Amino acid sequence: MKKILVLNGPNINMLGVREKTIYGKLDYPALCAYIQKAAAALNVEVEVAQSNVEGELVTLIQQAYGKFDGIVINPAAFTHYSIAVLDALKAVALPTIEVHLSNIHAREEFRHKSVTAAACLGQICGLGFKGYALALKALAEEI
Ligand code: DQA
Repeated sequence: MKKILVLNGPNINMLGVREKTIYGKLDYPALCAYIQKAAAALNVEVEVAQSNVEGELVTLIQQAYGKFDGIVINPAAFTHYSIAVLDALKAVALPTIEVHLSNIHAREEFRHKSVTAAACLGQICGLGFKGYALALKALAEEI
């Protein structure tokens, strides 16, 4: 069975509390359950992890090398400035899809730019939880 690592960056653990008009009322455990259900339907194995710490995400990406077949990542705020996350994704060179719950292009200008998307097959944004399921589906077909 194909193995996909789903990584979430800073403040994604605050879903259900943070800016509900943007991110919705459902909490982080609900997102994890949604991802597991989507993975089961696609017949792929997923491991879901979240960190508020840039270096921890870099380590998790590095550790995916040789262990996972692909990555779905919502780097959250790191999307917009983390060259360390970009370099880690480039280093492991695993097929990766970037996901954002909100439509980053319809928000503040500083959110329009993703530095991490350059290391990804593609980016899905603005579709809420569904973006993760679509990213898993695309990756499952790709790997
Ligand atoms: C986000 C968008 C980012 O701009 C923001 O910093 C986040 C969440 C999203 O999922 O919509 O924390 O990645």
